[in-house]
Amino acid sequence: MAFTRILLLAFTLLFTTQTLTAQVLTSKSYGNGIVVSADYHASEIGKQILQQGGNAVDAAVAVQFALAVTLPRAGNIGGGGFMVVHLADGETNTLDFREKAPERATRNMYVRNGEFKSDLSWEGILAVGVPGTVDGMVKAIERYGRMPLDMVIQPAIKLAREGYTLSYTQAQDLNNHKDTFKKYQASARYFTTGDSTLFEEGDLFVQEDLAQTLERIARFGREGFYSGPVADAIVNEMSRYRGLISYRDLRNYESVWREPIVADFLGYKLHIMPPPSSGSVAIAQILEMIDDYPLAEMGHNSAEYVHVVSEAMRRAFADRSYYLGDPDFIDIPMEELLSEEYNNDRMASFSADQATTSESLEHGEITGFLESSETTHFSIVDKDGNAVSVTTTLNGSFGSHVSVSGAGFLLNNEMDDFSAQPGEPNAYGLIGAEANAIEPGKRMLSSMSPTIVTRDGKVDMVLGAAGGPRIITATLQSFLNKAVFGMRSQQATAQPRFHHQWLPDMIFFDDFGLSPDTQQALEERGHRLFPMPGIGRAHNIYVDQNGDLNSGVDPRGDGHASGY
Ligand code: DON
Repeated sequence: MAFTRILLLAFTLLFTTQTLTAQVLTSKSYGNGIVVSADYHASEIGKQILQQGGNAVDAAVAVQFALAVTLPRAGNIGGGGFMVVHLADGETNTLDFREKAPERATRNMYVRNGEFKSDLSWEGILAVGVPGTVDGMVKAIERYGRMPLDMVIQPAIKLAREGYTLSYTQAQDLNNHKDTFKKYQASARYFTTGDSTLFEEGDLFVQEDLAQTLERIARFGREGFYSGPVADAIVNEMSRYRGLISYRDLRNYESVWREPIVADFLGYKLHIMPPPSSGSVAIAQILEMIDDYPLAEMGHNSAEYVHVVSEAMRRAFADRSYYLGDPDFIDIPMEELLSEEYNNDRMASFSADQATTSESLEHGEITGFLESSETTHFSIVDKDGNAVSVTTTLNGSFGSHVSVSGAGFLLNNEMDDFSAQPGEPNAYGLIGAEANAIEPGKRMLSSMSPTIVTRDGKVDMVLGAAGGPRIITATLQSFLNKAVFGMRSQQATAQPRFHHQWLPDMIFFDDFGLSPDTQQALEERGHRLFPMPGIGRAHNIYVDQNGDLNSGVDPRGDGHASGY
């Protein structure tokens, strides 16, 4: 079951992303400011905001709204995400604008006649969590921005109103989802041509209703979305398809500032989004598990290296599935999970010659702990050395596929990130336990791992990726490729990657990314291998000793770096 759904997702990714062979980019270096995102327009808008005197946070808010216009499959106002901010004065903070389960959500909301219906948490109105993006952007700019909100939203409004020409990939993305859009009135109107024709590269894509919604947000801030006509439109959509989100859910939604998780490795400090992101705990655990091994000597992507790092990934993902969820609802034994002793203990069963089977490996034992649960990433550094790392999502490509009639935007399908049925895999094959079971008002566990790495107090890397659970392992490898192997930015980002998530018990790897003899050496150790058309899509920035800002644009997508 888990494997079938993973395969399905792999094929979906085939149609929504380009593969490694699509383009090879060289890194670009800038001295003053840089924005790396999944879309040309959004990166250019971020750069303009920086040039107009905005800081990295102003630019991030502008990019988030621009992506809601130009990357409707993942950029959003109907979804949520995470932001990590590091200021030049050393302050680091994180903002959790993840969606929440509606108040009327119940543990068995996806069970029909005693049977768990996984499709209901993936497509359609019941898959939708209460959106967090608009509250998050307003909070971020109020606390750290220099520009007024309405100024940074203007470029997105203009793009929505005047339109932009679709790239080949954008046209294909929309066409590939046509049949599903047609099931929902508003989506059929906004995201199909309306007849039997298909979108083509070069078509002008105009979104007037979205422009008006963005104008409301520009004028009224969070109230422009969580009350008034936009809230009416969301609640109407709920009534049309029997969804759960109410005015109260919208009114009560709050994004939350949280302390980052900090991991130390080879003189670098990684500041990572804490739970409900699982990425932070997993990355910190993996680094703790592998730091005694001679990684550089093993050689990048050698069988020995892939083996030891995959075994650490396996163990961290087993813990993820048991211990992690929304920290506002459950107790997470954070200190133990991150401790050297616990992680060394987890690796005690590691054998250099033989893969551990996931069947024989459960989550680690933590005594005294009482158990009580299509994405896009962008990175920005400004001329003063402030940095922002944001991962934002509707979950699947185009989320629930339900759009809000009259308001012009898509709603997420983030409810699938709960362990909708503890023990049953979600669309990414991830198994969850009680810690991540559905509860009203709870946030679903995420793999999104925006990260800022500092060295001697200064920004050294701004990292993050899209790609479900592969976000965690892609971000880890974007870091290790520089920290351990000394790669430069574009090289570190483009390298073939691998991924293990405990269950299903196999190493996924970038198509053509491991040589046949490396694959054979891993198989001899007992690993099962599975090639995929892209392990994550990362948009990174790497800072040189002399302060130069270098782009790391993932060749697995069609992202863009803009700087000056
Ligand atoms: O938060 C999460 O972990 C998922 N909703 C992320 C989904 C994702 O990355 C899809 N693909 N690119």
